[in-house]
Amino acid sequence: MATPRKPSLIEKLSKKVFLFIWFFVKKTNPNTARRLLYWGITDQAFLTEVPRDPILQTQALGKTFQNPIGISAGFDNSFKYNDELVRIGFGFSEFGTFTYHKDRDTAQTYFLPRQEAILVDLPSWPNPGIQYIQKQLIDRRRLPHIAGVSISSSLEVEDKDNKEFYTMLEQDVLRSVQLVAPYCDFITLNLSHPTMPITNLIHVPFQLASLLRTMKDHIQRHAPILTPKLVVKLPLELTDASIPLLADVFMQEGVDAVIIAGFSGSKSQKQRLGNSHMKGFVTGRPLMEPSTLLLSKFYQATKGKLPLIASGGVFTGEDAYRKICAGATLVQIHTALLFKGPDIANDINQKLALLLKQKGFKSVNEAVGSQYF
Ligand SMILES: Cc1cc2nc3c(=O)[nH]c(=O)nc-3n(C[C@H](O)[C@H](O)[C@H](O)COP(=O)(O)O)c2cc1C
Repeated sequence: MATPRKPSLIEKLSKKVFLFIWFFVKKTNPNTARRLLYWGITDQAFLTEVPRDPILQTQALGKTFQNPIGISAGFDNSFKYNDELVRIGFGFSEFGTFTYHKDRDTAQTYFLPRQEAILVDLPSWPNPGIQYIQKQLIDRRRLPHIAGVSISSSLEVEDKDNKEFYTMLEQDVLRSVQLVAPYCDFITLNLSHPTMPITNLIHVPFQLASLLRTMKDHIQRHAPILTPKLVVKLPLELTDASIPLLADVFMQEGVDAVIIAGFSGSKSQKQRLGNSHMKGFVTGRPLMEPSTLLLSKFYQATKGKLPLIASGGVFTGEDAYRKICAGATLVQIHTALLFKGPDIANDINQKLALLLKQKGFKSVNEAVGSQYF
């Protein structure tokens, strides 16, 4: 476990210099700033004192999280920055998304600074393949904090109504599950890509139920001692009618948590941003309202019995507090880290702790769902 300590004067100075340069690069070339950020967080200067306010300790997935703010999938899809993410204040990380075979595609990111949004153009999940990740996980078996692995399937089929597709899909997902189950705290079945065939499962509840059931069995069989939890990540665009159906499937099949939600693939969302002509899915600030509404509907549909993890548009402690009140036990961020820089997790946590105290809550868990709408 990385021990929080006070940074030395040199470290403080070097961090200030980094942030100064990063800030200016971000203004002119956000994609370079993104690469600079990955480099910057590996520097010891970011070994800053992480606030450990007991009010932030959160019980979820059978564990105690030091704080409820996690990094969501896509920031680290080669499992390189585990220690660094703890150092800069995250309470947990989700790595990936990984598929069985490596995928050489790269995500194109277009920053929209005024809207604090990103258009992410990715036809699939670029990643080095699950076997590579298994090796990384084994090498770093003693993870310094709670870590999940996001998995998906890049299976392409012409006919998604064909039963064979679901059988092949199940086999593809299970062989990935089996490789990583013994080495992580949770496995996410990622159904959040707006156009990949696997996402079609959300429209076929009995097939989804069958896959979740076999995943649970497989996880138990391949990791009988430190059994990781099963999490599902949903896309943002869901119909109201599908919410209770999905909620029932998740509860019946013993899913341990649901992430709400991933990118927005909707054209209207891009139109609102004035970028309907551009390729890609929307992330960042514009997702705060629609994903919080969906979260709240899910909280209602599951009567608070299924832990929910918020993702979408969180930039501040106030945003995180709203997600928790709307029903989230844990909160993930991604775009905010790219826009605001490496202090974001600490900033959010400090404000969140303050808000919880001001509103009279004794813990994050006590505030969950206190104001769902
Ligand atoms: C560059 C980029 C890559 C992403 N890659 C993934 C991914 O591989 N898997 C995944 O589940 N989500 C991925 N996401 C989506 C995020 O995990 C998150 O759900 C989404 O961006 C909404 O949260 P945010 O507004 O805090 O960014 C990616 C997002 C961005 C910006």
